[in-house]
Order: sequence, then C-alpha cells, then structure tokens
Amino acid sequence: MKPKNNHIDLEKIMSLCKRRGFVFQSSEIYGGLASTWDYGPLGVELKRNVKDHWWQSMVRERDDMVGLDASILMHPDTWKASGHLESFTDPLVECKSCNRRYREDHLETSACPEPNCGGELSEPRMFHLMFKTYMGPIEEDASIVYLRPETAQGIFVNFNNVVNSSRKKLPFGIAQIGKAFRNEITTGNFIFRTREFEMMEIEYFVMPGQDEEIHSKWIDDCLEWYKAIGLKPDKLRVREHDSNELSHYAKSTYDIEYDFPWGWGEIQGIANRTDYDLKSHMNMSGEKLTYYDENSGSHVTPYVIEPSLGVDRAVMALIVDSYTEEETTNKNGKSEIRVLLKLNPSISPIKVAVLPLSRNEKLNPLSRSIYDILRKSTLINGNVQFDDAQSIGRRYRRQDEIGTPLCVTVDFDSLDDQMVTIRERDSMIQSRVLIVDLQETLAKKLYL
Ligand code: GAP
Repeated sequence: MKPKNNHIDLEKIMSLCKRRGFVFQSSEIYGGLASTWDYGPLGVELKRNVKDHWWQSMVRERDDMVGLDASILMHPDTWKASGHLESFTDPLVECKSCNRRYREDHLETSACPEPNCGGELSEPRMFHLMFKTYMGPIEEDASIVYLRPETAQGIFVNFNNVVNSSRKKLPFGIAQIGKAFRNEITTGNFIFRTREFEMMEIEYFVMPGQDEEIHSKWIDDCLEWYKAIGLKPDKLRVREHDSNELSHYAKSTYDIEYDFPWGWGEIQGIANRTDYDLKSHMNMSGEKLTYYDENSGSHVTPYVIEPSLGVDRAVMALIVDSYTEEETTNKNGKSEIRVLLKLNPSISPIKVAVLPLSRNEKLNPLSRSIYDILRKSTLINGNVQFDDAQSIGRRYRRQDEIGTPLCVTVDFDSLDDQMVTIRERDSMIQSRVLIVDLQETLAKKLYL
C-alpha cells in the first residue's frame, strides 16, 4: 500500500528489518509462507523488551494484578461457551472476475478494488477464523481442537483457580502473554495482520456497576504505557467502536490506534465484556464462577474490562515511529542521509555498543575487558554489542540504524588516560569519561 503524505514507505522498514536482523520472512528458503514472519536476533530482543516492559508495568508494579500462562489448546467446549464457534467469523466476498478474496467490511467500494479489475463481487458468506486441528494419534477418532484465537479464554476458565490460590479481592486482573491464531481472510502490511501473532491481554474483574468508570481508567493507563515505551502522543488516538463493529461479547469497546504508513490502525482494543464470559462458562461447565463479596455477604458474577493488544503491532508501531532519516555532512564535507531508529533506551535491542577505534591489537584487551564488564552489568541491564569491523563512522551508522542509544569508543589515548568516549545516537554528542565511572554514566544516560 502507498504511504500517505509525510509517511515513510513500508518497503524501507521491511528492508531495514531484514538487513539488520529484526524480521525475516518465515520459511524463506522454500519461497516463504504467506504473512508469517520470524523475529531475528535484534527483533527477538526488541519484542522481549516490549513484553518485559508491559509485564513490569501491568503486573509487577501493581498490587491488583497477577499473571497466568494457559495452554494454547483448550477443551473444545470452551469455544462453544465463549461464542467463538458460532460467531467468530468475518464476511468473505470473492471477485467474480479475478477470484480475489476480500473481507467485505474492509472494502471501501462495492466492486473488486484490484486496479485493473473492478469486477463484480459475490454475496458475502461468513468465513470461520479459528484454526482446527486433531488431538490424538488417529485422525478419524481424534477429537477436534482449536488453536486459540485469543488468550482470554484461558483466563476465564481459570477464574476459580486464581481467586482461590491468590486470594485477590475485586477489583483485580489477570494478565497473560501468548500466541494466538486466526485464519484471517486478508493479511498484510508486514507484521500488522498475520495468522499467527502474540497477544498481551488483561481480564480485569470488577463489581458490576463499577465497570464504566474502570473502563475509562484503563484507557488512560494504556495510553500512558504507549507513551512510556516512546510512541509519539500525536500518532496515537482513541476510537470508540460503532455498535455494528462490536464483538459478540462486548458492551462497548475503545481501540487505541496508531497512525501507520497506510493510515490509522488498531494496536489495542479495550472492551467491556460484562459478565458474558463467566456466565457462559458457568452454563456450559456447570461450575460456579462467582466471587463472594464479604461486604454484602453475597455471590456476584464480576464484570470484565479487557485491555488486549498485539505484541507484533506494538513492535511495528515502535519501528515505524522511531524510524528517522536525517541529513548530515560526512567527514569529506558531503551531505548524506543518516538513518536511525530513535527507540526509547528501555526498548532498544542493544543498549550499548563497544567500538575499538580500529582493529589494532593494542586496543583489543582494554576494549574486550570493557565489553565483558558492561555485558554483565546490572546497571546497564541489557544487551551490549562489540563491533570492530569497518571504519568507526560506518559502525556508528550501523548502530544508529538498529537504535543503539550509546556507543563507547576505545582509542589509543584510552590506554594512557583510562578514559573512553561516549557517543550519543540522537545528538551525536561525544563526551569523555573515566572507565571507572563508565557503568554509572551510561546507566544515567540510558534510564534517567
Ligand atoms: N480478547 C480480545 C481480542 O481478541 P481483538 O481486538 O480481536 O480482541 C486484540 O484483538 C489485539 O490483538 C488487536 O488490538 C491487535 O493488536 C491484535 N491482533 C488481532 N488480530 C491480529 C492479527 N491478525 N495479526 C496481528 N495482531 C492481531
């Protein structure tokens, strides 16, 4: 898709991601598998940092939250009760001329949108999004199970287990990070819409009647989190679902959207699921999934506020948001474009790069010993890279392009004065510090 005005080209992002080891096409040597992606050495670090930051903010720093890691495969009745078997569908239309398939609700025209086609579209038919598989050694006898399309149901079916073991009082939430699968009709925009993706979900249980107030508090808290990981506030907006967009379980939903190269796109949905899920599972399983309220001396079925986001979409937004091209002058006085990812240091895959000025063997022992210390430093608390290939200028550019906030350069003076140079990614300012003060100075620049 063409980028809108002032938006970067998605091709540039995809090319950087491949070149530098963020994201690769899955099964590439076999020609790839449509819209499935593999995270490379830097991508996996970036994604992990996003998940860790979220878990830290949403679970560890709050006293009203606990975590869970439920299985992907669940009893098939789960999906009957949740309504997914019946309602988790999208309207599929097919062009009668070129046979391309589309999600009807994503189309802006009533004819085939393919530029040289414009053919008539079929009547919509509802297409089921859950992936089916078989459990057991013999396909005919085996029971059908589904790859979960959301992690949420693992939380609902464990409601009693968590309440009884953690003794949490309302309001409280259960958070979970894990893979989900949807056989989407149309995929695309790189890692934005795929058939396998990772979710970070919270089911926050509240007293009925307190749901609306707590819903709006969660919208604010989630927006704050996106700002904390470094997304530009003017690239974020909140949009309320129209009644015809609402999922089968939702009373109201607000999406947090990001201004992607192709336009506004959802990164998070924050839904009021009411008591729909707990009641449905009570009906299907016969188990009581209620909460005993000591104040009123009665059992209540809590309402649920659900902040739910896709990790891959958050990663995509971070890369797009931080991608910057700047005009600079090189050492020969020629102007050139500097590409950098202005990632927040807490999210950057590499925190610090140690760069000896050259490969001269005199610089090697000191550079290596600094690298060894920083790698294990709890003050730096992240990945440190060593790079001595090519000119120092090229190495700075390479680190800029992968979003490394700080480089440490070891030169011949360092051998005498026991000082090194810290070079900052965004300003390119360089300052000299004593090696004994290096860890603390770097930590301050990274995290304060
Ligand atoms: N349990 C609620 C739920 O599943 P959703 O809005 O369907 O709600 C939540 O999904 C989030 O999961 C979305 O906001 C989006 O970030 C992510 N997501 C959904 N479908 C996706 C897909 N096909 N590829 C990547 N991420 C997806």
